Amino acid sequence: MGGPLHLVKRFVGSLVPLGEPAADREWIRDSLTEGEWGIWRTMSRADRRHAAGVARRVERALGHEATRPVVAAALLHDCGKTVSGLGTYGRVIATLSVKVAGHEQAVAWRETRGFTRRVGLYVLHPELGADLLGMAGSAPVTVAWTAEHHLPADQWTVPLDIGEALKAADDD
Ligand SMILES: [Fe+2]
Ligand SMILES: [Fe+2]
Repeated sequence: MGGPLHLVKRFVGSLVPLGEPAADREWIRDSLTEGEWGIWRTMSRADRRHAAGVARRVERALGHEATRPVVAAALLHDCGKTVSGLGTYGRVIATLSVKVAGHEQAVAWRETRGFTRRVGLYVLHPELGADLLGMAGSAPVTVAWTAEHHLPADQWTVPLDIGEALKAADDD
């Protein structure tokens, strides 16, 4: 039965974005290289929560095919979002702005300043994330999926079954 403390905990939990589940921390650490771990730690708690869920679903779907670099792709596919510096509220505005102005216009905004520049960078998070991971020496499939995770399947370079499992596990 949920007493008052339980209710308070649940309420606070809905306001404060949680990071990855504590039970997943060791598994995540073991799934990332030293360089990738450094990038993981720059991600927001909400992004890490999302990514840990994606990685768990991918592992369940692929079984032994969920190699370390594939799990790393699930964990880090959105790492480029950090570059924009947008918080939750800014991202909502960014997503709406892109819907109104169009993707191409939004990409051009990265040449501007202030908020529109942040939106431009947010839109480019796949490319920015892939760059970060490439520089960190990530495996090819990790870098490729990060660059390709918002592209249609016919533009993927990752193996189709791997891409399909990663896409299905990604609920954003
Ligand atoms: Fe993304
Ligand atoms: Fe995602």
